[in-house]
Amino acid sequence: MCGIVGYIGNQDAKEVLLKGLEKLEYRGYDSSGIAIMSENGIHVFKEKGRIADLRATVDNDLFAATGIGHTRWATHGVPSQSNAHPHQSVSGRFTLVHNGVIENDELLKQEYLMDIALKSDTDTEVVVQFIEVNVNKGLSFEDAFIKTLKELKGSYAIALLDEQNPDVIYVAKNKSPLLVGLGKGFNVVASDAMAMLQVTDQFVELMDQEIVIVKKEDVTIKNLQGEVIERAPYTAQLDASDIEKGTYPHFMLKEIDEQPLVIRKIIQEYQNATGQLTIDPEIIEAVSEADRIYVIAAGTSYHAGLVGKQFIEKLAKVPVEVHISSEFGYNMPLLSANPLFIFISQSGETADSRAVLVQVKKLGHIALTITNVPGSTLSREADFTLLLHAGPEIAVASTKAYTAQLAVLAILAEVTAKNNGKEIGLDLVRELGIAANAIEVLCDSKEEIEKVAYEYVQMTRNAFFIGRGIDYYVCLEGALKLKEISYIQAEGFAGGELKHGTIALIEEGTPVIALATQESVNLIIRGNVKEVVARGANPLIISMKGLEMTDDRLVIPEVHELLTPLISVVPLQLFAYYAALHRDCDVDKPRNLAKSVTVE
Ligand code: M6R
Repeated sequence: MCGIVGYIGNQDAKEVLLKGLEKLEYRGYDSSGIAIMSENGIHVFKEKGRIADLRATVDNDLFAATGIGHTRWATHGVPSQSNAHPHQSVSGRFTLVHNGVIENDELLKQEYLMDIALKSDTDTEVVVQFIEVNVNKGLSFEDAFIKTLKELKGSYAIALLDEQNPDVIYVAKNKSPLLVGLGKGFNVVASDAMAMLQVTDQFVELMDQEIVIVKKEDVTIKNLQGEVIERAPYTAQLDASDIEKGTYPHFMLKEIDEQPLVIRKIIQEYQNATGQLTIDPEIIEAVSEADRIYVIAAGTSYHAGLVGKQFIEKLAKVPVEVHISSEFGYNMPLLSANPLFIFISQSGETADSRAVLVQVKKLGHIALTITNVPGSTLSREADFTLLLHAGPEIAVASTKAYTAQLAVLAILAEVTAKNNGKEIGLDLVRELGIAANAIEVLCDSKEEIEKVAYEYVQMTRNAFFIGRGIDYYVCLEGALKLKEISYIQAEGFAGGELKHGTIALIEEGTPVIALATQESVNLIIRGNVKEVVARGANPLIISMKGLEMTDDRLVIPEVHELLTPLISVVPLQLFAYYAALHRDCDVDKPRNLAKSVTVE
């Protein structure tokens, strides 16, 4: 989703900004821009399309040591040069970039900006024009800035240049993530630490309703009452090489291949000196005391939650409900007497989930976040955090974060069960190790999956994924992977449900991918496959060793039946990857999508 960078120091700002924006490309965007403050004023360059298109428009001879930049993912107005950020006030004095959504932009326009000819369709331009209107009424810049922020409804991360104060970048934040990075003789602004790792690993977190005055030698944080706030920086635990593709053609393929390593790392991180799996006792107490767990998540993380429910209910015997965050916030079910909320989010920034977390905290409930990003909003605002230790996930399509979420959820279930004296009949460390090896075997047989993918997607516009029990949840994830990167209409279905309507869509040659990894439903899912084959479907059965039958196209190594989702998802990830390649799609940056969805 939208990204922000800013630099103030002695170097050529435009190069730092453009490199920073390139690091934010993975988040998804459709236009970009920078504004730099040279000796003779502010210069804005913006373009629809890729950062490479923006680079081509920037005047390389201009030197400026201060600037701000932005990648835009369109919400208000189409992707275009005029809607791209930065936006400027009428006089050109103020130039601003913004992430988030201003919900009352129309009201502000009607009340304060009727005399102004806006140049874009964005909610962002309203902010910069409103600041100037307030300054024109005689307020000092800082007062005008704060007055404007107080009137905004919605979410924002803002960086602003003021031509009359060329030695400052002004920053503000509410709901949307924003960090200030500290350097020697320079400081930076970034919506994601990755953007500025090139120059610093020291960052200061910003809280909602704070403004920051960023100069090259110092940084002052204030609240909207004007009181100064002291906050120590933290060191971003990110290795710049983690965010490079290396020899891989795409991040997605690299991240699929990293899954065995990630599972082994998780085992290590959650093991104590005697080799037992362990989790902060306070978390285990909270899980054990809950009469019901509510898992809140979106997209792939929601799919991980569905599998996690099976782990927790089967091992720890605590009832679990799994909810889509964007629905839960506006349609809250009747809660149990003593609920515990688990938020699953790779990025830790998903606005839909955060909106629920805010409500849940207001109601006084306990929240645990399972995330890949330490210090992310969902992590900071929950009572507890469990980290995924998956390393940065750059491809928009989530792969290694999903398997990491499953591994951490399994560990949470196992440790809770043991804490409650439940016999689980499974050595999880051993079984996760077997799962990691099995994924390695699958990653080594990519060619076979590539062949199958090419064969199945040749002529198709749609595909179905069917499974029963835990396989069904993996089918939902397999279908999401295929549709988001290859644009093939794909749906995951419970094998038995298809005949209640959707089977009408099966035509001659429609691919139906069936998972058969569960002994208890092996024969019955095969019956469902026969039903679609009888109507012309082109079946692709993926079974687990020991359950295979003659027509099965792919047989995955045997693992504990509860842990099959960690393995069966891998051929589906690879299937989607090769299908997208075959269709010439931009695998890592699929159209219309953003990595971190920071608007509701
Ligand atoms: O960062 P989160 O896990 O909260 O993100 C949730 C979804 O936006 C995300 O999983 C999305 O569905 C992925 N693009 C799927 O590959």
